[in-house]
Amino acid sequence: MEDVSLIRGEKWILQQINWTIHKGDNWVLFGLNGAGKTALLNVLNAYYFPTKGKVSVLGKEFGKDPIGGELRKQIGFVSSSLQQKFHPGDNSFEVVLSGAYASIGLYETPTDNIREKAITLLKELGCIQYANRNYETLSQGEKQRVLIARSLMNNPSLLILDEPTNGLDFIAREQFLETIEEISTKEEAPTMIYVTHHVEEILPIFNKTLLLKEGQVFSAGETNEMISSSNLSHFLNMDVEVIWKNGRPLVSKRRAIKI
Ligand SMILES: Nc1ncnc2c1ncn2[C@@H]1O[C@H](COP(=O)(O)OP(=O)(O)OP(=O)(O)O)[C@@H](O)[C@H]1O
Ligand SMILES: [Mg+2]
Repeated sequence: MEDVSLIRGEKWILQQINWTIHKGDNWVLFGLNGAGKTALLNVLNAYYFPTKGKVSVLGKEFGKDPIGGELRKQIGFVSSSLQQKFHPGDNSFEVVLSGAYASIGLYETPTDNIREKAITLLKELGCIQYANRNYETLSQGEKQRVLIARSLMNNPSLLILDEPTNGLDFIAREQFLETIEEISTKEEAPTMIYVTHHVEEILPIFNKTLLLKEGQVFSAGETNEMISSSNLSHFLNMDVEVIWKNGRPLVSKRRAIKI
């Protein structure tokens, strides 16, 4: 992204974003509610066209090259906001199959190859036992697993995870993070972008971090430099302390000491 800005109504939601993601890096996108994270992801996904600036994703420049379904098929997207969008009555298998077409709902007849791929992914993610269950009836954690399976149907080059652990219990969250780590070690692993409000979810594989504040890049670079006590305290306007444990950061608010 070069100098990307986005206006919605009268408000500049994103302003002069410069961001380059290289293959092999995995990024965390961190920022407070309303900072513009989801809007930024929607620009990457080609759902929003930037008001100003230049965007190229996976070698395709928006506005010059044809953008649409084909590009979206190369981008896996997991977001709990997707959960409400599936059609009532779709079973988990159908939700996963729809990933092959980057569509919400299944409008085409999947080939045998596509069906086999969906079954393999349902097995890999431990959700084959609820393949025939109505998606709506699954627990939050079960739904997230199905969504990850769906996002991997096309072996995406870019995998976007927007607050994927919403609603997961501790064990389900840790299992989910393990899955993410496993995906990253595979040959042909996708480049990942991970949005979270919980810094303790930042796995060592996420070597880069972009801090977004009020639609602007506050800072971007190596995760251990971005998620440091001093940088986060500036970013949050709050005195916080970051400690690293088991390769992951933990953040807490410093207490004022009364004398
Ligand atoms: N279509 C729209 N029209 C008007 N305002 C919008 C639109 N889409 C987003 N916004 C506003 O843009 C800002 C950024 O929204 P966005 O959803 O990107 O935030 P976010 O960083 O993802 O926040 P959260 O952590 O709460 O998910 C918010 O103030 C939001 O209300
Ligand atoms: Mg959001």
